Amino acid sequence: MVVPSRTPARSPSYLFPCVISLSVISLAALFLDYKVDDFASKTKTLAGHNLEPTPWHPFPQRTFKEESRRSQAYKIVQCTYLTCLSAMNPIPERRRVASPQKVQTCPDFFKSIHKDLEPWAKSRITMRHIMEAKRFAALRILIIRGKLYVDPYYDCVQTRAMFTIWGFLQLLRRYPGMVPDVDIMFDCMDKPVIDKKEHGSFPLPLFRYCTNDANFDIPFPDWSFWGWSEVNLQPWNEEFKDIKHGSQAKSWKEKLPFAYWKGNPDVLSPLRVELMKCNDSKLWGAEILRQNWAEEAKDGFKKSKLSNQCNHRYKIYAEGYAWSVSLKYILSCNSVALIISQQYKDFFSRGLIPKKNYFPIPSADLCRSIKSVVDWGNANPSETENKYHKQTKQTSLTMDRVYDYMLHLITEYSKLLDYKPAPPSSALEACVESLLCLADPKQRQNLEKAAASPSPYPPCTL
Ligand SMILES: *[C@@H]1O[C@H](CO)[C@@H](O)[C@H](O)[C@H]1NC(C)=O
Repeated sequence: MVVPSRTPARSPSYLFPCVISLSVISLAALFLDYKVDDFASKTKTLAGHNLEPTPWHPFPQRTFKEESRRSQAYKIVQCTYLTCLSAMNPIPERRRVASPQKVQTCPDFFKSIHKDLEPWAKSRITMRHIMEAKRFAALRILIIRGKLYVDPYYDCVQTRAMFTIWGFLQLLRRYPGMVPDVDIMFDCMDKPVIDKKEHGSFPLPLFRYCTNDANFDIPFPDWSFWGWSEVNLQPWNEEFKDIKHGSQAKSWKEKLPFAYWKGNPDVLSPLRVELMKCNDSKLWGAEILRQNWAEEAKDGFKKSKLSNQCNHRYKIYAEGYAWSVSLKYILSCNSVALIISQQYKDFFSRGLIPKKNYFPIPSADLCRSIKSVVDWGNANPSETENKYHKQTKQTSLTMDRVYDYMLHLITEYSKLLDYKPAPPSSALEACVESLLCLADPKQRQNLEKAAASPSPYPPCTL
């Protein structure tokens, strides 16, 4: 008997919705993929996605490690659009200020804040100032009611952007409710550019890591205070402790009686090229070593530990392409710092006093100049040792003071703004979670070590 099967008759009616919904789902997935990809390819991140290197200081275009384009796209969307939303960042409360006896006066180098901002004392800072400074900026940074917004224009070399923004976020953590609303144009490359002659009639406010006498650029603490992942430098508070500890292995008199420099001479610095010629401990009293970062990285940075580089009585500081982050490490060594005529100054080196905090070395006749200071120091060890003791005491730059400097500079700067800052539509919120999400495992470890907590006492007074 043939039982007519109903199945074939039924199958279309039940298969059809299935097929439809399956195709809708896969179409939706495809569409979502496409959308995510499209969205991601337009999103500029603080890890450098979809950004061209700064045209004024080109460097090789970045490559990313993610396995596929798809996983990269999902990561970008997740990190930049979703993490800060779900991070539930309540607007931080202003903390109650602790005992007044803890209030300290800021060190002398804070006086530069007023000098740096002097060009806008009368004109104040208008939106036109900001928009014109944009031509020289790699990113725009805004703080609005305790939240941070970033509009990246260009990629910054290595992890400068990520670690700089991390610094801003830690400042917000350290002084919750105390950081005013601001709108800052920031360039992350080395050389100051707002020439005083060219921009004399309309100075442009631009933050960067250093400045010099010929330019209006406003110096701000550089990324290395939170770490420099590529060269294995730890956050400043750790590195400082390590160097201090390492340098105490020998008393000053027990240290090698000549001057030491180790660094990278291949940074378009004529001064460093000149310095190479002084490498002769007998003839010039100096030992000059070449740092090869690529080799060091392969070797796990065993030979570049800064705490093992305090074995000489004298440590030389030589500028690189502009200022060098190495100054703070050199000054922490319990050696005598020999600073070769400095042109570029970061925020704190303006407070250093020659013959008190360091020995100035003229760049003319370099080797002979080094030799004469070394000879004098070795002939007058007690006087030199006294000087170095004073020096280390006076130049100690703690992370507390770094945050205080940032807070005071931003506060004074914000007083000059003649409009109420608001994030432009192209700016995205950046938060601790979004940066950690973008960071690779090594960077993340480094960032986490450089986390700040609310200050138990008020900032130093200007
Ligand atoms: C300096 O001299 C030392 C010892 O002679 C040598 O090992 C080192 O490579 C020299 N440094 C440079 C930069 O040539």
